[in-house]
Amino acid sequence: MTTRSDYGPFLHPYAKPTKNKSDFIGIVRGEGARVWDRNGAEYIDGMASLWYANVGYGRKEIADAVANQMGEIAAFHCFDPFSNDRADQLAQRIGDFAPMPDSRIFFTSSGSEAVDSAIKLARVAHSQAGEPERTIIVSRGRAYHGVTYGGLSAQGLPLNQAGYGPFVEGMVNIAPDDLEAMAQFMAENGSKVAAILTEPVQGAGGVFPPTEGYLEGLRRLADQHGAFLIFDEVICGFGRLGAMWGAQHYGVTPDLVTFAKAVTSGYIPLGGVVVSGMVASKLESDDTWILRHGHTYSGHPTACAAALANIAIIENESLCQRATQIGERLFGGFRTLVSDGVLGDVRSAVAVGAIVMREGVDSIAVRDSLLGAGVITRAINAETLTWCPPLVISDSEIDQIVDAVAKAAS
Ligand SMILES: Cc1ncc(COP(=O)(O)O)c(C=O)c1O
Repeated sequence: MTTRSDYGPFLHPYAKPTKNKSDFIGIVRGEGARVWDRNGAEYIDGMASLWYANVGYGRKEIADAVANQMGEIAAFHCFDPFSNDRADQLAQRIGDFAPMPDSRIFFTSSGSEAVDSAIKLARVAHSQAGEPERTIIVSRGRAYHGVTYGGLSAQGLPLNQAGYGPFVEGMVNIAPDDLEAMAQFMAENGSKVAAILTEPVQGAGGVFPPTEGYLEGLRRLADQHGAFLIFDEVICGFGRLGAMWGAQHYGVTPDLVTFAKAVTSGYIPLGGVVVSGMVASKLESDDTWILRHGHTYSGHPTACAAALANIAIIENESLCQRATQIGERLFGGFRTLVSDGVLGDVRSAVAVGAIVMREGVDSIAVRDSLLGAGVITRAINAETLTWCPPLVISDSEIDQIVDAVAKAAS
């Protein structure tokens, strides 16, 4: 029988609290799209860690930027009256390629904080514009918006909510691709809706790209009813969909955009919200009003320095364009395995996707067999494995993944 001493003091995220400490794989080193564990085993990372390591591992440029910033000052807060150059520069940089004109950028340290911030900013902007009754956040089934109470209450994966109630009021979840149900809800409640919240591609829920016209439909409904449209781009942002934003890939312009993960490729935790000029103007409408929202680390200079170096790599190495080639090769390879009867199905959008096992094949067993073969994937449920490789993965590494899946799923 295992006991507390077998579990160890680290209470792991998204894991059984009763898992034996020695059963976790300790990752100790990384280079490019590969990582090594503490026993020396080498893996091709098919998941960019947890959907974030877009520029890959071991990037000296980012380590240097971080060390330089720490040499000057590691951190100093940005609550009034303080600021710092790195936060100002990063806000300018992200604003320059943001999907909406005249955007302003709010910083957090994670995607969950970004989602909660976007929800709060949407509500308070309407309140400042004289519509405090607009409080409802409409989201979708299968959505993942993080684990803090705003995003947790809004998301659409019931297993994640079990045992954690009561939840934040005013969250309404509509069936994932049902634009008609959304239209009906908006027709009946539109004047009380603060925002429609959606991932452009639903990620952690199993990688579901939007159905034809769905995002455009959400934009239309938000406009018709005076609500904001929030894109949660915590996975989609910073190159994953072949452009800096999913909004640009799909040609639909939201009002607020959340980001995290690949903004630094995970080198230092950072997240945030892009706030369109239209929404920002509501926050700016009363010059006696104070935005009473912010985290200790909102605008953390070392995290911002990591992001600036990371964005420079994405641009200099044309990783957005590379994402398109990666997606074609990887998911094209998996589609051949579907035709060969090895896999049940493939869903993908540019460089993020999922494979569905044939009936009777357990995805957890396939994941474990892939780990044994030196390939990392993520099991979302008993049928589905997800893929989101670093955007520096080579063609031969992609081919090794497809070959390993062909063997493991046969
Ligand atoms: C779309 C989306 N939103 C929010 C989050 C939460 O981000 P974090 O885990 O950094 O809090 C995630 C994490 O996977 C995500 O995929």
